[in-house]
Amino acid sequence: MTDPMQQLQTQCASCQNCPLGATRTNLVFGVGDPAAKLLFVGEGPGEQEDLQGEPFVGKSGQLLDRYLALIGRPRDGGVYIANIVKCRPPHNRDPKPEESEQCLPWLRAQVRILRPKIIVCLGRIAAQRLIDPEFRVTRMHGVFTEKGGILFMGTFHPAALLRNPAQKKDALADFQALRDKLEELGI
Ligand code: URA
Repeated sequence: MTDPMQQLQTQCASCQNCPLGATRTNLVFGVGDPAAKLLFVGEGPGEQEDLQGEPFVGKSGQLLDRYLALIGRPRDGGVYIANIVKCRPPHNRDPKPEESEQCLPWLRAQVRILRPKIIVCLGRIAAQRLIDPEFRVTRMHGVFTEKGGILFMGTFHPAALLRNPAQKKDALADFQALRDKLEELGI
């Protein structure tokens, strides 16, 4: 029997639902453990991700990996990583609302397969899409909100932390709270 996530990825690979499909080098579908109950969602692929076909493999990905190590979840163990849009927006601009809208059914299908207990939104774009259109990371980071049986939390995007290292202590606190929540829920 074919793995459902693999099957979904194969379908997604031919997606041309928005103009980003025409300019991508590679689809960046998502990576991780298909049995993960913890899902991280970023904004969209950057240059390195587009070239390698994997989310968070550039500089911000290296920082994310450090935070994942802190919670004892390497990217191939107990965690899945995806993005709001699966193709790189040119020049790393924010995804347009209509691009996110066109791409979201793929993420929703991934969520249906994974059935995560916790979704962590990395940065404003993901948090505003998945948690609250008015989400402000500096004010609302680290707070768990339940929606449809899933706990959502928004935190700083690793690229923002590289630009503004003063926020790393708040990000660290969010990941410590996440580690506690995982333990509390026995995930
Ligand atoms: N930034 C994101 O939001 N996602 C990636 O995959 C890489 C960088």
